[in-house]
Amino acid sequence: MEQVTKGSLWKTLEDHSQSLGLYTPQNVINNSTVNRQQFSASACDIQLDYSKQHITNDTLALLISLANKCNLKDKIHGLMRGDKLNISENRAALHTALRVFDDTQIIVNHQNIMPEIIAARNKMQNIVEQIREKIWLGFSGKPITDIVNIGIGGSDLGPRFSLKALAEFTAKDMNYHFIYDVDPNSFSNTVSKLNPETTLFIVSSKSFTTQETLYNAKKAMNWIGKQQHHAKHFIAVTAQPKKAHQFGIQTVLPIWDWVGGRYSFCSAINLITAIAIGFEHFNQLLAGANSMDRHFKESDFSTNLPVLLALLGIWNNNFLHIHNLLILTYSERLEQFVPYIQQLDMESNGKSIDNKGKTVNHATGPIIWGGMGNQAQHSYYQLLCQGTHKVTADFISLNAFDGQIINKMCDAKINVLTAGVNDQENQNGYIPGNTPLNHIRINNYSPFSIGALVALYEHKVFVQSVIWDINPFDQPGVESAKHNYFRHMEHAATEAMTESML
Ligand code: F6P
Repeated sequence: MEQVTKGSLWKTLEDHSQSLGLYTPQNVINNSTVNRQQFSASACDIQLDYSKQHITNDTLALLISLANKCNLKDKIHGLMRGDKLNISENRAALHTALRVFDDTQIIVNHQNIMPEIIAARNKMQNIVEQIREKIWLGFSGKPITDIVNIGIGGSDLGPRFSLKALAEFTAKDMNYHFIYDVDPNSFSNTVSKLNPETTLFIVSSKSFTTQETLYNAKKAMNWIGKQQHHAKHFIAVTAQPKKAHQFGIQTVLPIWDWVGGRYSFCSAINLITAIAIGFEHFNQLLAGANSMDRHFKESDFSTNLPVLLALLGIWNNNFLHIHNLLILTYSERLEQFVPYIQQLDMESNGKSIDNKGKTVNHATGPIIWGGMGNQAQHSYYQLLCQGTHKVTADFISLNAFDGQIINKMCDAKINVLTAGVNDQENQNGYIPGNTPLNHIRINNYSPFSIGALVALYEHKVFVQSVIWDINPFDQPGVESAKHNYFRHMEHAATEAMTESML
């Protein structure tokens, strides 16, 4: 199939973007013939307002035609059916299977994988209940009071995001900690006030070879002490159970090679969140993600939230040539959302070789940045108002805060960045506005909403990869860098050894 970015439709979109060159929302807002209210869609307790994007109905129609030309509907069904879309690793990408509850059969290598997913979920639930009900005891017979997740990347960012987002639901008779760095003091700083008798370590690593994780897991083993105590104080979550057993960990929860690390939010990698909020709430998180999966699979593209979010991103990135996406969250509980999306998006679509092995001739994944919206106001907001760089943004707020100052400030920022400020008496205060942006509203930070929000962005990233014809499920750059790094480490060690012998 011809690269869509070289096709006539791509050229039409480029010409269209030129034709809109001076187009700004003000013009449209003032042009009463265009009803901006239509530029919104909602599903799974999430509302998307994209009326501040630099688009017309024609733009949307062309973008949807582009999606159809890329056989997006077939790709979506293939993703959820278990087609091996992770071409370079000859694997499926079945993060959606983790949140299936009906008797769907999903076949990978001629085997229905649902029984093992259900078995893993049941084992996870059993562990969660044993810990929360004080049945799981430490080596001296005391119940667990502190849970420490040792992991990095997708084995840390998702759990850290959901634990913070769902703090309202967490059991208050336990404390939750994350060790994710190789700072020599990370481990000691975390455990300095903890008691080995009542501390449980979750060693989260899909590969069980990540140096940072094993470095801290070894420290944890030494800190717990006697080997016969380890069984009560370690659980491994990994796709490599043999490696975990060899490391000395008896209890292992599985994940699979057809679940990418950055797509493992709904797997046992999120065990610490399930322990904290309880398995009923964790099932609600899975239900929210599953609800978004069904919406994504079944809805017309014109009302399909992941497809709309993706296509608007393609428009801004590839036709308005804005190669970054600012994500601002207006809720303290969503503080860890941006770091999580940074890995999900940039490790997936930060690619320049397409699925045919050709170097791409267009922009791919944007630079994702941002954080808490009100912090931005007192940090880099000046650049957003009067800087020389073009930015596009996703504002994320909670309906539960409507009427409160936080949402009023969110709306005020959106207004300034789109309508601008043109005060004749104060030219230095001129703000051009015209920032193309989305306003995403979730009802509240319920497990269901958080699950749906994560699935929304997972599928947005996937849709963009289909348009760009790149593989979002491998990370050859990271793997190559890791190998280079270890060669450098070994060389340095050899050099040091040689010097020490001189
Ligand atoms: O950064 C590379 C990577 O493999 C990520 O994709 C992954 O989330 C992270 O490192 C941790 O990997 P693991 O879960 O295998 O320890």
